[in-house]
Amino acid sequence: MAEDPKDWDVETRLVRGGMARSPHGEISEALFLTQSFAYESAGAADRRFSGEEPGFIYQRFANPTTQMFEDRLALLEGAEMCKATASGMSAVHAALTGLLRAGDHLISGRALFGSCRWIIAEWLPRFGVETTLVDATDIDAWRAAVRPNTKAFFLESPANPLLEVAPIGAIAEVAHAAGAKLVVDNVFATPIFQKPLVLGADIVVYSATKHIDGQGRVLGGAILGGAELMQESYRDLLRHTGPALSPFNSWVLLKGLETLDLRVRRQTDNAAKVAEAVGAHGKVKKIIYCGRRDHPQAAVIANQMTGAGNVLAFDLGSQEAAWRFLDALAIVDISNNLGDAKSLATHPSTTTHRSMPEEERLKIGLTPGWVRMSVGLESPRDLVRDVSRALDAA
Ligand SMILES: Cc1ncc(COP(=O)(O)O)c(C=O)c1O
Repeated sequence: MAEDPKDWDVETRLVRGGMARSPHGEISEALFLTQSFAYESAGAADRRFSGEEPGFIYQRFANPTTQMFEDRLALLEGAEMCKATASGMSAVHAALTGLLRAGDHLISGRALFGSCRWIIAEWLPRFGVETTLVDATDIDAWRAAVRPNTKAFFLESPANPLLEVAPIGAIAEVAHAAGAKLVVDNVFATPIFQKPLVLGADIVVYSATKHIDGQGRVLGGAILGGAELMQESYRDLLRHTGPALSPFNSWVLLKGLETLDLRVRRQTDNAAKVAEAVGAHGKVKKIIYCGRRDHPQAAVIANQMTGAGNVLAFDLGSQEAAWRFLDALAIVDISNNLGDAKSLATHPSTTTHRSMPEEERLKIGLTPGWVRMSVGLESPRDLVRDVSRALDAA
Protein backbone atom coordinates (compact mmCIF):
# COMPACT_ATOMS: atom_id res chain seq x y z
CA MET A 1 0.00 0.00 0.00
CA ALA A 2 1.30 3.47 -0.84
CA GLU A 3 2.31 5.65 2.10
CA ASP A 4 1.88 9.43 2.28
CA PRO A 5 5.34 10.82 3.22
CA LYS A 6 3.53 13.56 5.18
CA ASP A 7 2.52 10.83 7.65
CA TRP A 8 6.16 9.92 8.28
CA ASP A 9 8.12 10.90 11.37
CA VAL A 10 11.10 13.23 10.96
CA GLU A 11 13.70 10.43 10.86
CA THR A 12 11.88 8.68 7.99
CA ARG A 13 11.37 11.96 6.10
CA LEU A 14 15.12 12.65 6.31
CA VAL A 15 16.15 9.24 4.95
CA ARG A 16 13.43 8.62 2.36
CA GLY A 17 11.67 11.92 1.62
CA GLY A 18 11.85 13.14 -1.98
CA MET A 19 13.49 9.94 -3.27
CA ALA A 20 12.83 9.54 -7.00
CA ARG A 21 14.38 6.28 -8.24
CA SER A 22 15.56 5.86 -11.80
CA PRO A 23 14.62 2.64 -13.68
CA HIS A 24 17.82 1.08 -12.24
CA GLY A 25 16.34 0.98 -8.75
CA GLU A 26 19.40 2.45 -7.00
CA ILE A 27 19.39 2.58 -3.17
CA SER A 28 21.57 5.69 -2.91
CA GLU A 29 19.99 8.62 -4.75
CA ALA A 30 21.35 9.16 -8.26
CA LEU A 31 23.58 12.11 -9.11
CA PHE A 32 22.27 13.58 -12.38
CA LEU A 33 25.29 15.60 -13.41
CA THR A 34 23.70 17.01 -16.55
CA GLN A 35 23.13 20.60 -17.65
CA SER A 36 20.34 19.94 -20.10
CA PHE A 37 17.92 17.29 -21.33
CA ALA A 38 17.02 15.82 -24.75
CA TYR A 39 13.46 15.93 -26.09
CA GLU A 40 11.84 13.23 -28.23
CA SER A 41 10.79 15.76 -30.86
CA ALA A 42 10.60 19.47 -31.57
CA GLY A 43 6.96 19.34 -30.52
CA ALA A 44 7.94 17.71 -27.19
CA ALA A 45 10.46 20.55 -26.58
CA ASP A 46 7.71 23.07 -27.29
CA ARG A 47 5.33 21.36 -24.87
CA ARG A 48 8.03 21.13 -22.17
CA PHE A 49 8.84 24.88 -22.49
CA SER A 50 5.17 25.89 -22.48
CA GLY A 51 4.60 23.89 -19.30
CA GLU A 52 2.01 21.71 -21.03
CA GLU A 53 4.19 18.63 -20.36
CA PRO A 54 6.11 18.19 -17.12
CA GLY A 55 9.84 17.50 -17.22
CA PHE A 56 13.30 18.98 -16.84
CA ILE A 57 14.66 21.61 -19.22
CA TYR A 58 17.92 23.07 -17.94
CA GLN A 59 19.99 22.90 -14.76
CA ARG A 60 19.49 26.60 -14.03
CA PHE A 61 15.73 25.89 -13.68
CA ALA A 62 15.70 22.44 -12.07
CA ASN A 63 17.54 19.13 -11.91
CA PRO A 64 16.40 15.69 -10.70
CA THR A 65 19.03 15.45 -7.92
CA THR A 66 18.43 19.04 -6.80
CA GLN A 67 14.69 18.33 -6.87
CA MET A 68 15.18 15.37 -4.50
CA PHE A 69 17.09 17.64 -2.09
CA GLU A 70 14.38 20.31 -2.34
CA ASP A 71 11.56 17.82 -1.81
CA ARG A 72 13.28 16.19 1.18
CA LEU A 73 13.97 19.54 2.86
CA ALA A 74 10.41 20.76 2.14
CA LEU A 75 9.03 17.59 3.73
CA LEU A 76 11.22 18.12 6.81
CA GLU A 77 10.23 21.79 7.12
CA GLY A 78 6.55 21.19 6.45
CA ALA A 79 6.73 23.65 3.51
CA GLU A 80 4.76 23.32 0.28
CA MET A 81 7.80 24.27 -1.76
CA CYS A 82 11.58 24.57 -1.56
CA LYS A 83 14.03 26.11 -4.01
CA ALA A 84 17.70 25.35 -3.49
CA THR A 85 20.39 27.96 -4.11
CA ALA A 86 24.17 27.92 -4.41
CA SER A 87 24.81 29.36 -0.93
CA GLY A 88 23.01 30.66 2.12
CA MET A 89 23.71 34.21 1.00
CA SER A 90 22.16 33.69 -2.44
CA ALA A 91 19.10 32.34 -0.60
CA VAL A 92 18.89 35.43 1.65
CA HIS A 93 19.47 37.78 -1.30
CA ALA A 94 16.83 36.14 -3.50
CA ALA A 95 14.36 35.73 -0.62
CA LEU A 96 14.43 39.50 0.00
CA THR A 97 14.73 40.88 -3.54
CA GLY A 98 11.88 38.64 -4.71
CA LEU A 99 9.55 40.33 -2.21
CA LEU A 100 10.71 43.93 -2.66
CA ARG A 101 10.56 46.69 -5.30
CA ALA A 102 12.05 50.20 -5.45
CA GLY A 103 10.08 52.38 -3.01
CA ASP A 104 9.31 49.50 -0.61
CA HIS A 105 10.46 49.38 3.02
CA LEU A 106 12.09 46.46 4.85
CA ILE A 107 12.40 46.07 8.64
CA SER A 108 15.08 43.75 9.94
CA GLY A 109 16.43 42.61 13.27
CA ARG A 110 19.80 44.32 13.76
CA ALA A 111 21.66 41.30 15.17
CA LEU A 112 22.70 39.68 11.92
CA PHE A 113 25.46 37.72 10.23
CA GLY A 114 27.79 40.32 8.58
CA SER A 115 26.76 39.47 5.00
CA CYS A 116 23.02 39.55 5.83
CA ARG A 117 23.54 42.99 7.35
CA TRP A 118 25.45 44.14 4.27
CA ILE A 119 22.61 43.12 1.93
CA ILE A 120 20.06 44.93 4.10
CA ALA A 121 21.96 48.05 5.13
CA GLU A 122 24.23 48.60 2.12
CA TRP A 123 22.94 46.77 -0.97
CA LEU A 124 19.13 47.04 -1.02
CA PRO A 125 19.15 50.85 -0.48
CA ARG A 126 21.11 51.17 -3.78
CA PHE A 127 17.95 49.95 -5.52
CA GLY A 128 15.57 52.31 -3.75
CA VAL A 129 14.54 49.96 -0.92
CA GLU A 130 14.34 51.70 2.46
CA THR A 131 15.56 49.64 5.40
CA THR A 132 15.24 49.98 9.18
CA LEU A 133 17.18 47.89 11.71
CA VAL A 134 15.49 47.21 15.06
CA ASP A 135 16.13 45.28 18.27
CA ALA A 136 14.53 41.99 17.17
CA THR A 137 13.61 41.01 20.74
CA ASP A 138 11.47 44.14 21.21
CA ILE A 139 8.03 43.69 19.66
CA ASP A 140 7.19 47.41 20.11
CA ALA A 141 10.27 48.33 18.08
CA TRP A 142 8.99 46.28 15.11
CA ARG A 143 5.54 47.87 15.46
CA ALA A 144 6.98 51.40 15.67
CA ALA A 145 9.14 50.88 12.57
CA VAL A 146 6.19 50.02 10.29
CA ARG A 147 5.55 52.48 7.44
CA PRO A 148 2.78 52.49 4.81
CA ASN A 149 5.28 51.02 2.30
CA THR A 150 6.63 48.24 4.57
CA LYS A 151 6.56 45.01 2.54
CA ALA A 152 8.93 42.63 4.34
CA PHE A 153 10.36 41.78 7.77
CA PHE A 154 13.61 39.81 8.17
CA LEU A 155 15.24 38.22 11.20
CA GLU A 156 17.74 35.60 12.30
CA SER A 157 16.75 33.66 15.40
CA PRO A 158 18.87 32.69 17.24
CA ALA A 159 20.97 35.44 15.66
CA ASN A 160 24.63 35.24 14.72
CA PRO A 161 26.78 35.58 16.83
CA LEU A 162 25.24 36.31 20.26
CA LEU A 163 22.18 34.05 19.96
CA GLU A 164 19.57 36.74 20.41
CA VAL A 165 16.15 35.10 20.13
CA ALA A 166 13.19 36.91 18.53
CA PRO A 167 9.53 36.03 19.25
CA ILE A 168 8.67 34.78 15.75
CA GLY A 169 4.91 34.37 16.22
CA ALA A 170 4.39 37.87 17.65
CA ILE A 171 6.56 39.45 14.94
CA ALA A 172 4.64 37.56 12.23
CA GLU A 173 1.42 39.09 13.59
CA VAL A 174 2.86 42.61 13.36
CA ALA A 175 4.14 41.90 9.84
CA HIS A 176 0.80 40.54 8.64
CA ALA A 177 -1.16 43.40 10.20
CA ALA A 178 1.09 45.73 8.17
CA GLY A 179 0.54 43.70 4.97
CA ALA A 180 4.18 42.54 5.00
CA LYS A 181 5.82 39.11 4.71
CA LEU A 182 8.13 37.70 7.39
CA VAL A 183 11.35 35.99 6.26
CA VAL A 184 13.24 33.99 8.91
CA ASP A 185 16.85 32.81 8.67
CA ASN A 186 16.62 29.55 10.63
CA VAL A 187 20.27 28.50 10.33
CA PHE A 188 21.19 28.46 14.03
CA ALA A 189 18.03 26.65 15.20
CA THR A 190 18.14 24.14 12.30
CA PRO A 191 14.93 22.58 10.90
CA ILE A 192 15.17 20.02 13.71
CA PHE A 193 14.59 22.49 16.56
CA GLN A 194 12.46 25.33 15.15
CA LYS A 195 9.64 25.56 12.60
CA PRO A 196 9.21 29.23 11.61
CA LEU A 197 6.39 28.49 9.12
CA VAL A 198 4.33 26.87 11.87
CA LEU A 199 5.07 29.89 14.11
CA GLY A 200 3.69 32.24 11.43
CA ALA A 201 6.61 33.15 9.13
CA ASP A 202 5.98 33.26 5.38
CA ILE A 203 9.43 32.29 4.14
CA VAL A 204 12.33 30.37 5.73
CA VAL A 205 15.92 30.52 4.49
CA TYR A 206 18.89 28.27 5.20
CA SER A 207 22.56 28.18 4.65
CA ALA A 208 22.74 24.43 3.93
CA THR A 209 26.50 24.91 4.20
CA LYS A 210 26.07 24.66 7.95
CA HIS A 211 24.33 21.72 9.70
CA ILE A 212 22.69 20.28 6.57
CA ASP A 213 26.08 19.48 5.06
CA GLY A 214 27.62 19.40 8.52
CA GLN A 215 30.84 17.89 7.25
CA GLY A 216 32.64 20.91 5.84
CA ARG A 217 32.33 20.05 2.14
CA VAL A 218 29.98 22.20 0.07
CA LEU A 219 28.10 25.50 0.03
CA GLY A 220 24.35 25.50 -0.41
CA GLY A 221 21.19 27.38 0.47
CA ALA A 222 17.42 27.03 0.42
CA ILE A 223 14.25 29.12 0.37
CA LEU A 224 11.03 27.52 1.61
CA GLY A 225 7.42 28.60 1.88
CA GLY A 226 3.90 28.26 0.50
CA ALA A 227 3.71 27.28 -3.20
CA GLU A 228 1.80 30.35 -4.36
CA LEU A 229 4.10 32.91 -2.67
CA MET A 230 7.19 30.96 -3.76
CA GLN A 231 6.02 30.81 -7.39
CA GLU A 232 5.05 34.44 -7.69
CA SER A 233 8.07 35.80 -5.81
CA TYR A 234 10.92 33.53 -6.85
CA ARG A 235 10.21 31.41 -9.95
CA ASP A 236 11.26 33.96 -12.55
CA LEU A 237 13.94 35.55 -10.34
CA LEU A 238 15.75 32.25 -9.78
CA ARG A 239 15.39 31.11 -13.42
CA HIS A 240 16.73 34.32 -14.90
CA THR A 241 19.40 35.31 -12.36
CA GLY A 242 20.80 31.78 -11.93
CA PRO A 243 21.86 31.12 -8.33
CA ALA A 244 21.10 27.40 -8.90
CA LEU A 245 22.66 24.79 -6.60
CA SER A 246 24.89 22.36 -8.52
CA PRO A 247 23.63 18.75 -8.76
CA PHE A 248 26.83 17.55 -7.09
CA ASN A 249 26.30 19.83 -4.09
CA SER A 250 22.61 18.85 -4.07
CA TRP A 251 23.63 15.20 -3.83
CA VAL A 252 26.04 15.87 -0.96
CA LEU A 253 23.36 17.86 0.89
CA LEU A 254 20.69 15.23 0.20
CA LYS A 255 22.93 12.64 1.87
CA GLY A 256 23.67 15.17 4.65
CA LEU A 257 19.96 15.35 5.45
CA GLU A 258 19.89 11.60 6.16
CA THR A 259 22.01 12.09 9.29
CA LEU A 260 20.92 15.64 10.21
CA ASP A 261 18.69 14.69 13.12
CA LEU A 262 21.31 12.37 14.66
CA ARG A 263 24.15 14.86 14.25
CA VAL A 264 22.30 17.93 15.50
CA ARG A 265 21.00 16.13 18.58
CA ARG A 266 24.42 14.70 19.49
CA GLN A 267 26.09 18.08 18.84
CA THR A 268 23.52 19.74 21.08
CA ASP A 269 24.18 17.23 23.90
CA ASN A 270 27.90 17.98 23.54
CA ALA A 271 27.27 21.74 23.46
CA ALA A 272 25.35 21.54 26.76
CA LYS A 273 28.39 19.88 28.39
CA VAL A 274 30.82 22.40 26.92
CA ALA A 275 28.53 25.29 27.97
CA GLU A 276 28.46 23.98 31.53
CA ALA A 277 32.26 23.91 31.72
CA VAL A 278 32.63 27.31 30.06
CA GLY A 279 29.98 28.90 32.31
CA ALA A 280 31.73 27.62 35.44
CA HIS A 281 35.20 28.89 34.45
CA GLY A 282 36.52 31.94 36.30
CA LYS A 283 37.92 33.63 33.15
CA VAL A 284 34.46 33.81 31.54
CA LYS A 285 32.66 37.13 32.12
CA LYS A 286 29.45 36.09 30.40
CA ILE A 287 28.08 33.09 28.50
CA ILE A 288 25.09 32.87 26.19
CA TYR A 289 23.63 29.48 25.30
CA CYS A 290 20.02 28.76 24.37
CA GLY A 291 19.98 25.78 26.76
CA ARG A 292 20.79 27.88 29.85
CA ARG A 293 18.13 29.28 32.15
CA ASP A 294 19.98 32.63 32.22
CA HIS A 295 19.62 33.20 28.45
CA PRO A 296 18.00 36.68 28.18
CA GLN A 297 15.12 35.28 26.09
CA ALA A 298 14.75 31.94 27.91
CA ALA A 299 10.93 32.25 27.97
CA VAL A 300 10.76 32.79 24.20
CA ILE A 301 13.09 29.82 23.64
CA ALA A 302 10.81 27.59 25.74
CA ASN A 303 7.91 28.71 23.54
CA GLN A 304 9.34 28.25 20.09
CA MET A 305 12.40 25.97 20.12
CA THR A 306 12.48 22.26 20.91
CA GLY A 307 16.26 22.12 21.36
CA ALA A 308 19.05 24.55 22.20
CA GLY A 309 21.34 23.92 19.23
CA ASN A 310 25.10 23.52 19.12
CA VAL A 311 26.35 27.12 19.19
CA LEU A 312 27.39 29.08 22.27
CA ALA A 313 29.09 32.43 22.78
CA PHE A 314 31.17 33.70 25.69
CA ASP A 315 32.91 36.90 26.68
CA LEU A 316 36.49 36.77 27.90
CA GLY A 317 36.68 40.51 28.55
CA SER A 318 39.16 41.60 25.87
CA GLN A 319 40.31 40.75 22.35
CA GLU A 320 43.69 39.72 23.78
CA ALA A 321 42.09 37.16 26.10
CA ALA A 322 39.79 35.89 23.32
CA TRP A 323 42.76 35.41 20.99
CA ARG A 324 44.83 33.74 23.76
CA PHE A 325 41.94 31.30 24.23
CA LEU A 326 41.68 30.53 20.50
CA ASP A 327 45.44 30.14 20.09
CA ALA A 328 45.60 27.70 23.03
CA LEU A 329 43.01 25.27 21.59
CA ALA A 330 44.46 21.90 20.61
CA ILE A 331 41.42 19.98 19.26
CA VAL A 332 38.88 22.69 18.39
CA ASP A 333 39.79 24.53 15.18
CA ILE A 334 39.77 28.29 14.71
CA SER A 335 37.26 28.66 11.88
CA ASN A 336 34.31 30.88 11.00
CA ASN A 337 31.99 28.07 9.88
CA LEU A 338 29.42 26.41 12.15
CA GLY A 339 27.27 23.30 12.34
CA ASP A 340 30.22 21.08 11.41
CA ALA A 341 31.11 17.65 12.83
CA LYS A 342 34.37 19.30 13.89
CA SER A 343 34.15 21.80 16.74
CA LEU A 344 35.02 25.30 15.54
CA ALA A 345 35.57 28.58 17.36
CA THR A 346 35.89 32.10 16.03
CA HIS A 347 36.40 35.70 17.15
CA PRO A 348 33.37 37.38 15.49
CA SER A 349 34.58 41.00 15.77
CA THR A 350 37.59 40.31 13.54
CA THR A 351 36.01 37.62 11.29
CA THR A 352 32.29 37.04 10.63
CA HIS A 353 31.23 40.48 11.86
CA ARG A 354 34.18 42.63 10.83
CA SER A 355 32.15 44.26 8.01
CA MET A 356 29.67 45.53 10.63
CA PRO A 357 30.58 49.10 11.76
CA GLU A 358 31.93 49.12 15.32
CA GLU A 359 29.02 51.20 16.65
CA GLU A 360 26.57 48.62 15.26
CA ARG A 361 28.58 45.82 16.85
CA LEU A 362 28.37 47.58 20.19
CA LYS A 363 24.59 48.04 19.80
CA ILE A 364 24.18 44.25 19.67
CA GLY A 365 26.58 43.80 22.59
CA LEU A 366 29.41 42.42 20.46
CA THR A 367 32.43 43.74 22.34
CA PRO A 368 35.94 42.46 21.40
CA GLY A 369 36.07 39.79 24.14
CA TRP A 370 33.41 37.52 22.59
CA VAL A 371 34.15 34.08 21.17
CA ARG A 372 31.55 32.04 19.25
CA MET A 373 31.85 28.28 19.36
CA SER A 374 30.11 25.64 17.26
CA VAL A 375 30.27 22.29 19.04
CA GLY A 376 30.86 19.19 16.93
CA LEU A 377 30.74 15.43 17.27
CA GLU A 378 34.01 14.76 19.11
CA SER A 379 33.95 13.19 22.57
CA PRO A 380 32.51 15.75 25.02
CA ARG A 381 35.21 14.73 27.52
CA ASP A 382 37.96 15.67 25.05
CA LEU A 383 36.18 18.91 24.16
CA VAL A 384 35.68 19.98 27.78
CA ARG A 385 39.35 19.24 28.50
CA ASP A 386 40.51 21.23 25.45
CA VAL A 387 38.24 24.22 26.12
CA SER A 388 39.01 24.27 29.88
CA ARG A 389 42.77 24.23 29.23
CA ALA A 390 42.46 27.01 26.66
CA LEU A 391 40.37 29.07 29.11
CA ASP A 392 43.09 28.64 31.73
CA ALA A 393 45.52 30.16 29.19
CA ALA A 394 43.19 33.05 28.24
C1 LIG B 1 22.82 33.12 9.98
C2 LIG B 1 23.52 32.92 8.67
N1 LIG B 1 22.85 33.12 7.52
C3 LIG B 1 23.44 32.96 6.33
C4 LIG B 1 24.77 32.60 6.22
C5 LIG B 1 25.39 32.50 4.88
O1 LIG B 1 25.53 31.21 4.41
P1 LIG B 1 26.58 30.78 3.26
O2 LIG B 1 27.94 30.89 3.84
O3 LIG B 1 26.15 29.39 2.91
O4 LIG B 1 26.38 31.73 2.11
C6 LIG B 1 25.51 32.38 7.40
C7 LIG B 1 26.93 31.99 7.42
O5 LIG B 1 27.74 32.00 6.58
C8 LIG B 1 24.88 32.54 8.64
O6 LIG B 1 25.53 32.36 9.80
